[in-house]
Amino acid sequence: MVSIAVLGYGTVGSGVVEVIEKNREVIDRRAGKKIRVKYILDLRDFPGDPYEDRIVHDINVILQDPEVSVICETMGGNEPAFTYSMQALRAGKSVCTSNKELVANHGAELIRTARENSCNYLFEASVGGGIPIIRPLNVALTAERIELISGILNGTTNYILTRMAEDGSDFASSLREAQEKGYAERNPEADVEGYDACRKIAILASLMTGKTVRYEEIYTEGITKLTHEDFLYAKKLGQYIKLLASVREVDGNYYAMVAPFMIGEKNPLHSVNDVFNAIFIRGNTLGDSMYYGRGAGKLPTASAVVSDVIDCAKHGRTHILCLWEEEKLPLCSIDGASRKFFVRASQGCEEEAKELFGEIELTDAGVAGEFGFVTPLITEKEFAEKSAALSGFISRIRMEEA
Ligand code: NDP
Ligand code: HSE
Repeated sequence: MVSIAVLGYGTVGSGVVEVIEKNREVIDRRAGKKIRVKYILDLRDFPGDPYEDRIVHDINVILQDPEVSVICETMGGNEPAFTYSMQALRAGKSVCTSNKELVANHGAELIRTARENSCNYLFEASVGGGIPIIRPLNVALTAERIELISGILNGTTNYILTRMAEDGSDFASSLREAQEKGYAERNPEADVEGYDACRKIAILASLMTGKTVRYEEIYTEGITKLTHEDFLYAKKLGQYIKLLASVREVDGNYYAMVAPFMIGEKNPLHSVNDVFNAIFIRGNTLGDSMYYGRGAGKLPTASAVVSDVIDCAKHGRTHILCLWEEEKLPLCSIDGASRKFFVRASQGCEEEAKELFGEIELTDAGVAGEFGFVTPLITEKEFAEKSAALSGFISRIRMEEA
């Protein structure tokens, strides 16, 4: 039997307990052993909960119990999650987590600690919720030289963007719905400002390169500046607005960014809606592949955590190799990246826009006092200079990369 402990009995942690209970038979069969929840660590008590008797408040109870061999860290945040995870790994207990903030911050160190102590630090749930993406990168795509990873990596923002595009809902009420459904972070600023997607692409970029890509170095924009009018223009142009996170290798240099993009129907990500996420990976011999599923929510995320628990149960004290070193991988500036931009500007400055940007494609979505246009291909740096010089400039959205 494998006795496990769950740290944090919130949305994901309670989901882990539920998945283990609901799928008990198949999980035990696949793990080759019985998997049972022995402890649940939380700050609160849960009177009346069927697992009330397993609740503890002191991590040492778990760390000092030799029967516990796997810990699910579903508390979130850096501390005390980092300290507890390191203590567990040093005690030879494997850790399975959904905590992408911690993985993005300390992934390489935690993996090394697991390796040094013949156990595992697994984080399938940290990117894409229930979508299997970490295991494919670590196992199925290891023969590939990966050239591009691009995806919709945040369920909350995709839910909000879908509601705004499809029902004309406003930002605040769509965010509230996402929070009610358990998709959003405790501080939803991490979702809507793009920080969560940024941490996730940093994790994927680190696995792609085997080195540490620091999320602080990734250019990041969220969705808070998007308005109802932006969606009117997108519709008029036959485009969809999505928060994309990407990392790309060009001649040995790496570029990464997170920002809202207008994408067209040819892009398979255009139809990824609501809480769903998708990750598009281009390998040099495989070509294109895509991974799709629920990017957030209690049971899908918990399912991914439990899949890691099963892996730990199957491997015992054997470390599963994961190439992610602490050496930092420098990223290149996005200044030189070329793309088209969609721009909104005040009525009356059409000629000025043409003089600055050259052959622009004008569009009218019926918004009073303004017009929209699409620039020709232009670098980020040039665009920043020219848009600063455009007197009636209102806003811009990047268009799919060339
Ligand atoms: P919740 O806030 O719902 O759950 C966290 C739980 O941990 C709460 O019960 C909290 O107690 C408890 N907790 C916090 N600090 C401590 C502590 N020091 N000791 C013991 N218990 C503690 O968060 P989620 O379940 O939504 O998220 C957990 C992690 O999973 C986060 O890292 C999140 O980013 C990640 N994640 C979440 C997904 C989702 O869809 N929700 C999807 C993928 C990943 P209290 O409430 O009393 O503070
Ligand atoms: N808040 C995150 C999201 C949870 O909405 O995608 C899943 O990581």
